[in-house]
Amino acid sequence: MNYQPTVQLESISKEFTAGENSFLALDDVSVTIHPGEMVAIMGPSGSGKSTLMTLIGLLDTPSSGSYYLDGENVSVLSRLEQARVRNRKLGFVFQNFNLLPRLTAQKNVELPLVYGRVPGRDRAQRSREALEAVGLGSKINNLPTTLSGGQKQRVAIARALVHNPSMILADEPTGALDTRTGAEIMHLFRELNREQGRTIVIVTHDPEIGRHMDRVIGLRDGRLAENILHEYYGVDVYNAVDPDPVRAAAD
Ligand SMILES: Nc1ncnc2c1ncn2[C@@H]1O[C@H](COP(=O)(O)OP(=O)(O)O)[C@@H](O)[C@H]1O
Ligand SMILES: [Mg+2]
Repeated sequence: MNYQPTVQLESISKEFTAGENSFLALDDVSVTIHPGEMVAIMGPSGSGKSTLMTLIGLLDTPSSGSYYLDGENVSVLSRLEQARVRNRKLGFVFQNFNLLPRLTAQKNVELPLVYGRVPGRDRAQRSREALEAVGLGSKINNLPTTLSGGQKQRVAIARALVHNPSMILADEPTGALDTRTGAEIMHLFRELNREQGRTIVIVTHDPEIGRHMDRVIGLRDGRLAENILHEYYGVDVYNAVDPDPVRAAAD
């Protein structure tokens, strides 16, 4: 089979309109993400990071441009077809965990399988395995209120993994965590990337996190900004030739 990038966005724009006003949140953005890559989307607040993540996650549609996911032109699909692709291929992690407070860790993790109509017994087994994979095998019956922030985010990551998505999308996953816990969560993402080959896209404005990614996609005012690390964060510039320039610069 021919090689297919995981994500190929071609000249994507996203305009928000409210009454007479319109705002161009993304302006002619083209991005390719390869299978097995771990990349960050970085840029100042309001630069369009979450908007870009929402489009990659098929949670919203661009105003113009095309999107190929695993080689399939998903921009021409109906919203229902897009939702099916999303449920099959993508896993999401959010800053504030988005766990349901009345459900145990295991029941939270099972949710994507409920939507995917997986039978109950398989759901229980797969959700336990996913929790074990993130180091929470001993907490499967805990309610979210009895877990630390880092543990809650691990549950959310297990939930993102449980239906075996090809790509995980995380918007500021360490934003609500202290530095050390954030570093542990980043370590977990890297492990999932290396050991399970997951493609991972992380929105962050933390340069510490950017340093540990394969590549950084920089945004400023809705446009690609290759030099964003240097200009905005004062760390070294991403160089497309070096497979791991950010870490190399940090060493
Ligand atoms: N639903 C929306 N309606 C109108 N404007 C929006 C909407 N979502 C985002 N924006 C605007 O688009 C810009 C980019 O937002 P966002 O992608 O959330 O930025 P970031 O995640 O980089 O902080 C901001 O100026 C924001 O106000
Ligand atoms: Mg955001």
